[in-house]
Amino acid sequence: MKQIEIIKPDDWHIHFRDNDIMRQVVPETTRYFGRGIVMPNLVPPILNGTQAIEYKKRIIKSIPRNNNFEPFMTIYLTEKTRKDELKEAHDNGTVFAAKLYPAGATTNSESGVKDISKIIPVLEKMSEIGMPLLIHGEVTDKNIDIFDREKVFIEKYLEFILKEFPDLKITLEHITTKDAVEYVDGNNRKLAASITPHHLALNRNAIFSNGINPHNYCLPILKREKHREALVKAAVSGNPKFFLGTDTAPHLVKDKENACGCAGIFNATYCLQILAQIFENENSLSNLEKFTSKNGSIHYSLKFNEDKITLVKSEEAQEIVKFLNFQNEKIRIFSPNFDIFWKVKV
Ligand code: DOR
Ligand code: ZN
Repeated sequence: MKQIEIIKPDDWHIHFRDNDIMRQVVPETTRYFGRGIVMPNLVPPILNGTQAIEYKKRIIKSIPRNNNFEPFMTIYLTEKTRKDELKEAHDNGTVFAAKLYPAGATTNSESGVKDISKIIPVLEKMSEIGMPLLIHGEVTDKNIDIFDREKVFIEKYLEFILKEFPDLKITLEHITTKDAVEYVDGNNRKLAASITPHHLALNRNAIFSNGINPHNYCLPILKREKHREALVKAAVSGNPKFFLGTDTAPHLVKDKENACGCAGIFNATYCLQILAQIFENENSLSNLEKFTSKNGSIHYSLKFNEDKITLVKSEEAQEIVKFLNFQNEKIRIFSPNFDIFWKVKV
């Protein structure tokens, strides 16, 4: 039997939502992960420290007693965000980072930023106080092809932000292209990127195989195979600029299987097992711990978790449960198009 022990992983990009859905999904993430950055794109969004504190309390209440998990809170940047309020929330430890959603880029991003010049004073302040900026890096111009939105964002906006704010710590979130990998890798300043398990496991064919597959629809959208390969290469390399942020994002099946199906993949349940399989397939299991448990901490200047977890490989492919029940509805659990032989030892 093959097994590996790694430092307890962190998930640096999570959508917990709120209320009943939150209580259903929080146990899935907190079962194996030690810490996580919680996204603020609720309806309405988390706009200030007071809302973040309340939301954090609700999250903590929904963590099962045996799970040991620390949520790191974020604020949703708008053109009205006040820099002194942001500073206070950061200084008193309530809020860890701020999230930049270009308005309209993804689920619940309508109140995001339309004109980046409006948040320059806020970015200046963040740079000064050492508060990380998390970026959904896609342009929203409907004339730009959906598969090019990340690449164009890098050229048009990220380049500008980096030039203006050389000391700002930035995470380009859920990267999906070879262009993003090369840009982040070639930039020797405080820029790193998170990568999701679904962008490592699937290319864009998965959205269209044997008909349309709304459960593989997420944003940024899955890209062509050469991009997936570049992401896998970056993740398994152990390069400290790349780390895990799952972007686990629950939606009800009825909202996904819909004439206007929403974007998001709920992957918390089998995330680590899928990653172990991908890293093993690439003969890189020895770098799994860097990707899941070390590189993110290094980027965010945090200590590693003290706990460990063990992943065990079985002879038989593991049975995948397809749905998480939610009241009379269901949430589809992400599973890739290959067998998974790894389990987390409990
Ligand atoms: O696919 C996505 N779903 N991408 C995001 O950026 C947001 C997320 C969600 O909140 O559902
Ligand atoms: Zn997200």
